[in-house]
Amino acid sequence: MVSKGAAMGSASAKEGWSSRGAFILAAVGAAVGLGNIWRFPALAGESGGGAFVLVYIAFVALLGLPLVLAEITIGRIGQTDAVGSIKEVAKRSQASGGWSAFGGIGAIAAFLILSFYSVVAGWVLYYASVMGGELVAAIGRGDPLGGAFAGESVDQIQSRMGDLFGNPWLLLGMHAGFMGVTWFIVSRGVHAGIEKAATYLMPAFFVLLIGITIYGAFEGNFSEATAFLFTADFSKLTPQVINAALGQALFSLSLGVAGLITYGSYIRRSGGLGGTSATIALADTMVAMVAGLMIFPIVFAAGLDPAGGPTLVFQALPVAFQAMPGGALIGFLFFLLIFVAALTSSISLLEVPTAYGKGEMRWTRFVSASIFALGAFILGIASLLGYNVWAGVSPLGFWSIFEGLDILDTIDGFTGRVMLPLGVMLLSIFIGWKADAKMLQASTGLSNTTFRLWRFLVAWVCPIAVGLVLLFGLFPGLLG
Ligand code: PFF
Repeated sequence: MVSKGAAMGSASAKEGWSSRGAFILAAVGAAVGLGNIWRFPALAGESGGGAFVLVYIAFVALLGLPLVLAEITIGRIGQTDAVGSIKEVAKRSQASGGWSAFGGIGAIAAFLILSFYSVVAGWVLYYASVMGGELVAAIGRGDPLGGAFAGESVDQIQSRMGDLFGNPWLLLGMHAGFMGVTWFIVSRGVHAGIEKAATYLMPAFFVLLIGITIYGAFEGNFSEATAFLFTADFSKLTPQVINAALGQALFSLSLGVAGLITYGSYIRRSGGLGGTSATIALADTMVAMVAGLMIFPIVFAAGLDPAGGPTLVFQALPVAFQAMPGGALIGFLFFLLIFVAALTSSISLLEVPTAYGKGEMRWTRFVSASIFALGAFILGIASLLGYNVWAGVSPLGFWSIFEGLDILDTIDGFTGRVMLPLGVMLLSIFIGWKADAKMLQASTGLSNTTFRLWRFLVAWVCPIAVGLVLLFGLFPGLLG
């Protein structure tokens, strides 16, 4: 006699990756996103380049990689959504099911991130279409390798961003388009949707990334870019910068939102997870570095300010695409690249709550994906109105670290600085202290020494480092 729960479990057990390679592609696709191409270069630029990069790499190696393995392991053991998977690991470890709360925090964080991620991806969609128009115009002039924005002044080029931000309907249309594509793919399922998208989109992404970087190495100022990215000035390392580096490492690796627990739950085969986790962490970090080496040569060649911050990609780079040979084409491919990266990440963001709805609420995939995509779409509208109708609204303005931030930046800041570190802290305490060691070692497939090192990093280094950074990052006043 099969119990109702087991029968349900086996129904959902049909969903899974067709191979280890498919899982790695999907997980790398989740990790590589706006965080790598839009946020990392901008943050490194604002935070003094090399010193930030070094701290970032240290966080990835000492915290990121061990936690990637921790999340995937929970998913593979649990074989269901994040909350259910944590409960299963807790049960087998005779720990309290209450630990599943961090799966819930993760699913809420994924939902909140999706709401503004789709708005930013909407800007990318808009710029891709603008650059596509420029490319068509260049071809029309009989000069397909010409620059973009022929005859326009720098002000005219840059005013596009202001025009976009001042137009709620245009923002809304782009946001809707991007969320619609995300929803469509996720509602088709793990195999026919997520895996298929990753198998087409990730190779395209890597071809574009390498192509544009080679272009920048020839046409841009590569030496200034490498000096900027890799020369460390430690005087720039304030607690805020360290806090930002940790937040960025977690965000970039998709940690703390249970994304990798969810993707790990679709692994059907046995076999070690150490190499798989290392591949994901390494690929994500390499892409962030290469994205820096793609963007900064162009930035420096055009004499733009590397510390341009979040608008660097949208406002500064189009100016460069005017002057550079092949600018219209490269500009179009560049925004296409960011679009692809954003899409494979937003898919994983929607998959976390979707799996929760399926696993815990017993909704069908279609209903669950529709509810959360629609919800995130509606919440995203608040973010985009923050640039026009609700300009000046600062939802957490009473809290010093969020003072003056608009709606989008507030949700971004709150998830990145509060929710992700908190989720990761609970994850590391759970895996480092509560989960059964024998079960973990069997599932990770690590050798004795590596297992001990991994557990030490997860049990001690992660909670202490994340705790300190949380404390000083959230209460900067503590340092006087
Ligand atoms: N890692 C993605 C990026 O760097 O853009 C963002 C992200 C995707 C975070 C998926 C969390 C997640 F579950």
